[in-house]
Amino acid sequence: MNNDNIDKDHIWHPYSAINSDLPVYEVASADGVRLKLKDGKELIDGMSSWWCMIHGYNHPQMNEALTKQIKKMSHVMFGGLTHQPAIELTKKLIEITPTALQKVFYSDSGSVAVEVAMKMAIQYWHAKGDIEKNHFISLRSAYHGDTFAAMSVSDPDTGMHSLFKDTITHQIFIERPNARFGEPCNQEQLNELEHVLKNHADEIAALIIEPIVQGAGGMWFYSADYIKKAKVLCDKYNVLTIFDEIATGFGRTGKLFACEYADVSPDIMCIGKALTGGYLTLAATLTTEEVSTTIDKGDPGVFMHGPTFMANPLACTAALTSINLLLESNWEDKIQNIKQQMLEGLNICKTFDSVNEVRILGAIGVVEMKYAVDMAAITKEFVNAGVWVRPFGKLVYLMPPYIIEKEDLGKLINAVVNILKKYT
Ligand SMILES: Cc1ncc(COP(=O)(O)O)c(C=O)c1O
Repeated sequence: MNNDNIDKDHIWHPYSAINSDLPVYEVASADGVRLKLKDGKELIDGMSSWWCMIHGYNHPQMNEALTKQIKKMSHVMFGGLTHQPAIELTKKLIEITPTALQKVFYSDSGSVAVEVAMKMAIQYWHAKGDIEKNHFISLRSAYHGDTFAAMSVSDPDTGMHSLFKDTITHQIFIERPNARFGEPCNQEQLNELEHVLKNHADEIAALIIEPIVQGAGGMWFYSADYIKKAKVLCDKYNVLTIFDEIATGFGRTGKLFACEYADVSPDIMCIGKALTGGYLTLAATLTTEEVSTTIDKGDPGVFMHGPTFMANPLACTAALTSINLLLESNWEDKIQNIKQQMLEGLNICKTFDSVNEVRILGAIGVVEMKYAVDMAAITKEFVNAGVWVRPFGKLVYLMPPYIIEKEDLGKLINAVVNILKKYT
């Protein structure tokens, strides 16, 4: 077998076909905000490896903490055993997330954290004797992951609903709010939610949303007022709320957690991605005393989930170190500076005929095109320009590591502007 062809002929990449024509670049190493390719070319990372690498690659303190931990233990089962990295991390998560969230369940990926959240909501109502409350309300354009329950609450049109329609559970979808971030949300935009709650609350376990930013479903920034009012309605009709902060958590939107913009605490919250600073895969589902004790008192008296790699000590160490690094840094200023530079640099794209809109929030800069871009062609252009930017559909976006310097961010912005200008 020729090593040069192993990747192309034998490995699936995300949403790809084996032997596809889409280019795949081999990364030999990564440091700071730079990916170094096998051929020696360096790319400035504008993606933070899908929102994760907030402190950049090969971070000395992250490396040191993990090396220390690896010498103690890389892994130990969590059934019947515990360890300091999990205990310390839990203390920290309880401290930094909304006050009502006091109980933590660890899992390996965002999608599983969403599965766990949905199971918690169902088990909560089951324990209360409301066994019919086992469906969910979700927003159009939502994305909550690729496993079956997570798929079921992801947008039915852009998601995989038709392909898996006989297996996937049918949930209730309502329009996403039109009110933009920073705008108030009028009653009219809550009518559909209220209508569904009024008529179906006895079969609904929870409303699940990505607060403030709908990520992979369209990079849509919406009103904090909607979240506030939706929570009031859910409480009124006895429906739980699940906030999926997997993409938004740990500062990306300018707040540590996006729900802080609405000053609302959910019943259940999912975190992942930047939780470990991108070093290892770890996610968590947090909930309240009320949800956890109700589950514990119900039948069968335990929460029914337990992954093999639950609370992996290396991953917990990475998470604790990453959170401390974040909190000890002037991250709010960094996000503000990234935002300001993107506002100044990307707004010119609004004048291009091919561009529909430019949206910037926190360290997320989005240029929405009028039509879907040719991903293979445009990725090649970005690589030739020395940057790593991976658009999807109509969306060309930047979400760099928080440590990026002004000059490197300038290069990223210029690459986006210059390449998109050619599409006009
Ligand atoms: C909001 C949100 N929820 C869930 C997920 C799924 O996370 P993972 O890819 O780690 O399974 C993602 C991933 O992009 C996400 O953006």
